[in-house]
Amino acid sequence: MLRIISFAGSFMGEKSHTKRASDMLAEHVIRKAAEEGIGVSYECITADQLRIEHCRGCASCFKTGICPLDRTDDMPLLKQKLLEADAVFLCTPVYLWDMSGITKTVIDRLTYWSHRYDLAGKACVTIASTDSSIDPGLEDRLKQYMSFLGLSVADAITVMNYRSPNINREDEAGPVMDAAAERLIAACKDPASFITEIQEQLWIGRVRSIKQSVVLKEIAGIEHWDEIKVCLERGVADCGSFAEYVRKVKRESDGDQL
Ligand SMILES: Cc1cc2nc3c(=O)[nH]c(=O)nc-3n(C[C@H](O)[C@H](O)[C@H](O)COP(=O)(O)O)c2cc1C
Repeated sequence: MLRIISFAGSFMGEKSHTKRASDMLAEHVIRKAAEEGIGVSYECITADQLRIEHCRGCASCFKTGICPLDRTDDMPLLKQKLLEADAVFLCTPVYLWDMSGITKTVIDRLTYWSHRYDLAGKACVTIASTDSSIDPGLEDRLKQYMSFLGLSVADAITVMNYRSPNINREDEAGPVMDAAAERLIAACKDPASFITEIQEQLWIGRVRSIKQSVVLKEIAGIEHWDEIKVCLERGVADCGSFAEYVRKVKRESDGDQL
């Protein structure tokens, strides 16, 4: 079973074009996976379904692993669904050539996971939903944010909705969706092969921080931040590369996944 969770950063609910694009991609994945005898579960959450506060910048998540806002808003619900999924769609309407505010807020609230690799081994596709114009850098930026979080990003796609003149969205988007679905399934099977050079560079920095913290604890008794404890428990620094760590995570979760 391939479990997909999608977050669409639009408050338009069932009317959301972004959700519609996400549903379309899911339809393509379901069809392609079925050809290989793989079942798919899919859920898309739109921003109006959750109450999500802006990050206050207290850095408690890095130090203690606990976000104080999680006690009062719905972020734990979204986090739980992300942790249970094999694949994530991050979908956003385009606002002034960029992602929507709520989409960035969700990413901000997950930032500490980029230090702990909670989402490593999971596949991802990003979707930008737009009327007509888009910053050519947006796809790359969305891709990069998700790869910072440790995901194996299979594709980043932009879908223009039907309000655009001369564009039949369904016809235009079909082949793009098909290719993205194929890459997503490949990334679910072998997430390590979608790891990028930037992810490897970031991982080298993380391992250096982990090792420094270990030395500081030994020689000066400085307690580890929670993110270091988590990385030590997960054996992040025991691997020779981020791709190797992703292979380890995938091995450990196999049986559950594809
Ligand atoms: C505040 C705001 C800013 C927008 N900025 C752009 C833009 O810069 N370029 C564009 O093509 N569409 C822009 N749009 C249109 C939306 O990106 C587009 O209609 C999108 O599909 C809406 O998705 P939704 O229905 O899921 O909310 C904007 C819409 C809003 C509400």
